[in-house]
Amino acid sequence: MPPTPAALDVAAAVERALTLVADPPPTGRAVLGIAGSPGSGKSTLARRVVAAVTEAHGPGVAVQVPMDGFHLANTALAALGRSDRKGAIDTFDAAGYVALVRRLVAADEDVTWAPDFDRRVDEPVAGSIAVPRAVRLVVTEGNYLLDRDEPWALLPGLLTETWFCRTDDAVRIDRLVGRHMRDGRDHAAARAWATEVDGANARRIEPTADRADLVVTT
Ligand SMILES: Nc1ncnc2c1ncn2[C@@H]1O[C@H](COP(=O)(O)OP(=O)(O)OP(=O)(O)O)[C@@H](O)[C@H]1O
Ligand SMILES: [Mg+2]
Repeated sequence: MPPTPAALDVAAAVERALTLVADPPPTGRAVLGIAGSPGSGKSTLARRVVAAVTEAHGPGVAVQVPMDGFHLANTALAALGRSDRKGAIDTFDAAGYVALVRRLVAADEDVTWAPDFDRRVDEPVAGSIAVPRAVRLVVTEGNYLLDRDEPWALLPGLLTETWFCRTDDAVRIDRLVGRHMRDGRDHAAARAWATEVDGANARRIEPTADRADLVVTT
């Protein structure tokens, strides 16, 4: 059995990220991966880390790169018959994401362009996020960074450090319902998606916490 990862609160995790910037790998760049269930606060935590690094070192030192940029397009999901479980592990371009992480770790391109996910149109958009060579911390975050299946399983070996974001389940589901309603669903549909579709994904993601270097409680 691997040892249970140590748990940190958000302030301590931010301090930890600042040490990665101060003492990066030989490439000059650390790539931090944040995993966690839907709505656990991964994107929010990543934004806080980037903001703290920016405050300490100025702009252009840290960049957030979401795994969500590798959502398959809605046309591809429809062709595959997977539109009803968007967000499940087989609705992402896993190999494409692992390839991007390799390039971000190598830090040998003038600029590496990453895709983003545009919630307004509910689609990934290629070439959205610039990661210039000088970036010293990339914070990449998403559901399946610690999954046991290939090619996801390659990620912990590539990333400088991995964190698992943990939030009380009732709080997490309430936040998801709120967000799904802001995205245009009524309350019943928002709750059903949060507990059924997101819930199935959470049951796959939660047991991957023991593969993280640290658990961050948010
Ligand atoms: N510490 C916090 N306190 C209060 N609300 C929070 C906190 N962290 C996140 N939230 C809210 O919870 C919701 C989910 O957070 P966030 O988008 O960061 O999660 P996520 O893990 O990235 O979700 P997803 O898997 O869907 O991308 C958002 O509406 C966000 O504003
Ligand atoms: Mg997110």
